[in-house]
Amino acid sequence: MSQANHISLNSRCAPLQAFRASLFHCLRDPGHQGDADAIEYFEDGLLLVENGLVTQIGYADDLLPTLPSELEVTDYSGKLIIPGLIDTHTHYPQTDVIASYGEDLLHWLNTYTFPAEQQFGNEQHAKEVAEFFTAELLRNGTTTALVLATTHPSSVDAIFEVAQKRNMRLLAGKMMMDRHAPKKLLDTPKSSYTESAALIEKWHKTDRLHYAITPRFAPTSSEVQLEMVTKLTKEHPDAYIHTHLAENEEEITWVKKLFPQHRSYLDVYDHYGLLRERSVYAHCIHLDDADLRRMATTGAAIAFCPTSNTFLGSGLFNCKQALEQGIRVGIATDVGGGTSFSLLQTLSEAYKVQQMLGQQLSPYQAFYLATLGNAKALYLDDYVGNFEPGKEADFAVIDYAATPLTKRRIATSQTLQEKLFAMMILGDDRAVHASYIMGECAYLKHTQN
Ligand code: GUN
Ligand code: ZN
Repeated sequence: MSQANHISLNSRCAPLQAFRASLFHCLRDPGHQGDADAIEYFEDGLLLVENGLVTQIGYADDLLPTLPSELEVTDYSGKLIIPGLIDTHTHYPQTDVIASYGEDLLHWLNTYTFPAEQQFGNEQHAKEVAEFFTAELLRNGTTTALVLATTHPSSVDAIFEVAQKRNMRLLAGKMMMDRHAPKKLLDTPKSSYTESAALIEKWHKTDRLHYAITPRFAPTSSEVQLEMVTKLTKEHPDAYIHTHLAENEEEITWVKKLFPQHRSYLDVYDHYGLLRERSVYAHCIHLDDADLRRMATTGAAIAFCPTSNTFLGSGLFNCKQALEQGIRVGIATDVGGGTSFSLLQTLSEAYKVQQMLGQQLSPYQAFYLATLGNAKALYLDDYVGNFEPGKEADFAVIDYAATPLTKRRIATSQTLQEKLFAMMILGDDRAVHASYIMGECAYLKHTQN
């Protein structure tokens, strides 16, 4: 048996591969009490991959004798393989302003975000950041993400080009924004329509890529631009819709002033026909019962961004309530309002937010959210999210012994739940030993031994 020791991005999809490790994945939502029937776990497991797709998982003892004798098994014994983590909302142009001291959302946007986004008029800069950003996703075990670019069409090309090169399943779109931002960042209703339409034509459903029609949020789009968003979504019903909603009290007051005729912030989007399957709304902290019901019936998804919501002081998202309403809820880093690329750290903060609301987030449900739950939120669960046969073999190899503290804490853990919980509370990029895209190693941590 051999340790994986090289990174191969070009030789895609070997015919047959086998990976030995502990294996964990979810079959459905384990709920806040952590229903054990909703998960599968093989302490000494084998993951079989053919042409980049999962063909079988099970116990190594059962599957090893069925393999061709010459097949080299990649041995990660002692480590844990989980489905590739999925990020349902993140901004690649905000990579360089992560951890900028911000009073609140609107101050933070004006002070750090808008200046950073203006640099994406420079194609070289966009390419360099897109390379770094996607490498950072992989370093954190994240294999799929829904990403905002800037208003510059070339910023969308930059992120799709690098995702295509890395063979990642990735969703992205050009920000549409025609008011209330620096002039250099503004488009117009017409240019935002023609540029988005051209990008959809160029990228949507190319390889593993999907296009997301991306009005930044209601305050930065005129009514005429929102009509263009409607037109685009009608012309491209299988493209995604991606925006922000009800994050911050001041923002909500602003929306009331700008759109006085609407019942609520959500109702603005609803009026323009933007609530539907494959629409993703980041934050949604301050929704009322009517809003929540509307999200549930339309099949729209919420991206819960715990590190950003606490960092910007926006509020505590009631995840349990939204899930109980039957809304598709995903979890997201929201870099750079969010403070970490790591979905493990994001789960840790999500757990703490639920604690502040007197609620629970079981370790099984937390890992469900970051994998199959997020795949369902993005309507991608036919492709990714767990190891059912036929799914794409995107996965992360978690090293329990990545730090002296995790090693020590895991040594005293009795159950799988304890181990998962310790890794989501204490883990971060250091816990990710390797990331695989369709069975190919896309990131391997450099270790000293
Ligand atoms: N609302 C509108 N734009 C943004 C953004 O860039 N980040 C966050 N967190 N919220 C937003
Ligand atoms: Zn955001």
